[in-house]
Amino acid sequence: MSVDKGPYQHFMAKEIHEQPDSLRRALLGLVDHHSCKLKPFLEEIDFAGVDRVLLVACGTAHYACHIAKYWLEDFAGLPVEVEIASEFRYRNVALSGREIAIFVSQSGETADTLAALNHLRNRVAHRVAVVNVPTSSIAREAEHIVEIQAGPEIGVASTKAFTGQLICLAALAVKAGLQRGTVSQADEQNLLSNLTMLPRQITEILALDGAIQAVAKDLVDAGDVLFLGRGVMYPLALEAALKLKEISYIHAEGYAAGELKHGPIALIDQSVPVVVFAPSDEHFEKLVSNGKEVAARGGRLIWVTDPKGASKLKDVEGSVLKVPEAWDAWAPIAHAVVAQLIAYHVAVLKGTDVDQPRNLAKSVTVE
Ligand code: G6P
Repeated sequence: MSVDKGPYQHFMAKEIHEQPDSLRRALLGLVDHHSCKLKPFLEEIDFAGVDRVLLVACGTAHYACHIAKYWLEDFAGLPVEVEIASEFRYRNVALSGREIAIFVSQSGETADTLAALNHLRNRVAHRVAVVNVPTSSIAREAEHIVEIQAGPEIGVASTKAFTGQLICLAALAVKAGLQRGTVSQADEQNLLSNLTMLPRQITEILALDGAIQAVAKDLVDAGDVLFLGRGVMYPLALEAALKLKEISYIHAEGYAAGELKHGPIALIDQSVPVVVFAPSDEHFEKLVSNGKEVAARGGRLIWVTDPKGASKLKDVEGSVLKVPEAWDAWAPIAHAVVAQLIAYHVAVLKGTDVDQPRNLAKSVTVE
């Protein structure tokens, strides 16, 4: 199938803007929009009989796993381990045989993820592939598949596949909670009706392109950028830093905001912009304290928050990018689009090769 850029300058921009549609597609496969209940999927798996979840992936897909860990712990009370495939394949992990191992990959061809999948053959209860390419090697080798439904992704830096992976993993976490009796039917409807609001919220975020370009102008001359989050927004901060590094070649780090004082705060001065993913959730007040520590050392703060959060930031230093409020657990999916647009606009301002960044490949099929 030949894919073109349409009206966009880069595939990455096109793929970022496709997300309301690609997520709608993913949701249609997993959620009944009338009843706000899960459609049948992975029917052979009963999470009540599972004692641990292993989430294995590389790159951006690994950060999707990291976010899903929070959901699975929260909704299903399951122990979860998130593994980098290139490490996992060589480890002697203690297994009970009652684990479900989930391998997440856009391409389904990443050599390390495939090797990790093979490493667990006949050693765990279930091996599930969450993939964008249903004919891929990882899809073929796994016993169960969940399709991301993102459509072809050409830009090397993953965007719509990442948010699609998150939708699949969110549905999976709700399913796990239902089967284990920790998510009621009312909870299911609440979680899923909020999940189905994401395409509309993301459309609104895409309309903030001008404001996000202004943030990008603020970052373009930086040598280092820090991204902070707490709770489920922490792994999103890791993904935001990866995105910026990949395509703009600016050194960036994602940090759990509470960990700032254990090292990275030493880096803070006026030359280091600090982007804080701060939805108005249970961690908001703590994040504000962390932000104040940054401001006290001359750091330049950029807050990404919702209207409720923005109203509480009036007396706090830094600029504020206001995005629509998403359900707390799903906020990383909405904020991911902000992170993608920030990286994209910084790269465009720097004039890098956005779709084919130096030294990187779309799919790494060698060890
Ligand atoms: C490469 C790509 C990344 C991607 C990673 C994992 O490094 O440049 O964008 O996240 O591989 O790829 P996968 O296809 O397994 O998701």
